[in-house]
Amino acid sequence: MTTTSEVAINRGLRDIYFERTQSSFIDGREGKLLYRGYNIHDLAEHSTFEETAYLLLYGKLPTRQELAVFDAELKRNREIPAPVHKVIETVKDAHPMDVLRTAVSALAAFDPDVKDKGEEATLRKGIRLTSQVPTIVTAHHAVRNGRRPAAPSKTLGHAANFLYMFSGQEPSQRAARLLDKDFILHAEHGSNASAFTARVVIGTDADIHGAVTAGLAALAGPSHGGAAEGVMRMALEIGEPEKAQAYVKNLLAGGGRVMGFGHRVYRAEDPRARHLREDVRRLSEEMGEPRWYSILEAVVEAMKPYARRGIHVNVDFYAGVIYHLLGIPEDLFVPIFAVGRLPGWTLQVLEQYRNNILIRPRMVYTGPMDLPYVPIDQR
Ligand code: CMC
Repeated sequence: MTTTSEVAINRGLRDIYFERTQSSFIDGREGKLLYRGYNIHDLAEHSTFEETAYLLLYGKLPTRQELAVFDAELKRNREIPAPVHKVIETVKDAHPMDVLRTAVSALAAFDPDVKDKGEEATLRKGIRLTSQVPTIVTAHHAVRNGRRPAAPSKTLGHAANFLYMFSGQEPSQRAARLLDKDFILHAEHGSNASAFTARVVIGTDADIHGAVTAGLAALAGPSHGGAAEGVMRMALEIGEPEKAQAYVKNLLAGGGRVMGFGHRVYRAEDPRARHLREDVRRLSEEMGEPRWYSILEAVVEAMKPYARRGIHVNVDFYAGVIYHLLGIPEDLFVPIFAVGRLPGWTLQVLEQYRNNILIRPRMVYTGPMDLPYVPIDQR
């Protein structure tokens, strides 16, 4: 905290509480995360993405009947309009995150509820976006590889359908479950940078397509969702576990940051990381590529001195290697984070609307004052 004679400045809004929420509870010291009161460990082990999305959006675990209705709504909304396919083709050479952001923005033009910012319409739009985003990501991936996009499945679950549209083949149950768990772990996380951005947009009474488009822009950066891509690049550069110590030392000596480590809120290990760690270990072994797990654990070992300063692994540290082992290219890692985060953004948007207020902080001006205006030909 920097103080001037008049005001205290909290750069990065560190530790600033700006609102009340019923979305998630994070205890950064204990490393505890609850969605709507339910522990992330229980949800990761026992829930599905669809059930967790319902929990986030409606505030309670669904009955079988409620889940079936919600699941049918998700499946029904997977198609994207033909003009949005055209937009994707037009920008197909851009980074998938730029393509996704552009396509989500374009979806607003075709959404039947676009003019309605009421609670029910916003919920419908949030559910629609949750269904459409996987279709955008995988359609773009097909188009940039010269293939026709696969039509969304009418029967597969959210994660299995993503993998089906990605490769054109029905995935194994094991692969679908891994991604399902990954989506659960990424579904919501309080006022992180992208959700906060979405709230700022809603604070002006704008709409959910604008909020999600802005949220996607914030998610793309390497300090937020882009970290998983960086972790995989690092693992490939390290190449073998024995080289991890020297790599990390060198990186830190040059003022670099180890991707997948550190968090603004957690001072203990990010509770989401442990589930993915176990999955990386098992998947690396099953696929006969144990070195990936060994490289990541060697990086953890090299970072041990920093644990004392509260720098531990975060959710993105293990996610990238899982995607890599599932055959997914690095530049789709952030879009996958976005696929999982749609319910969280929708919930943040709904909460912001319910008790809306313009979000408009202030800055202390430090520039010159009262300068005389000099006409252009006298400068
Ligand atoms: N590697 C090395 N040093 C680090 C790291 C890291 N990954 N993260 C923080 N530090 C150091 C930092 O250099 C600083 O040291 P000093 O006090 O000597 O200047 C100290 O720890 C505090 O860092 P900070 O920048 O004040 O922390 P922050 O709260 O502003 O940043 C962060 C949080 C996530 C941006 C940062 O830890 C980082 O850049 N991590 C790597 C990127 C990453 O993994 N991001 C994913 C976050 S989790 C998924 C998500 O929610 O998006």
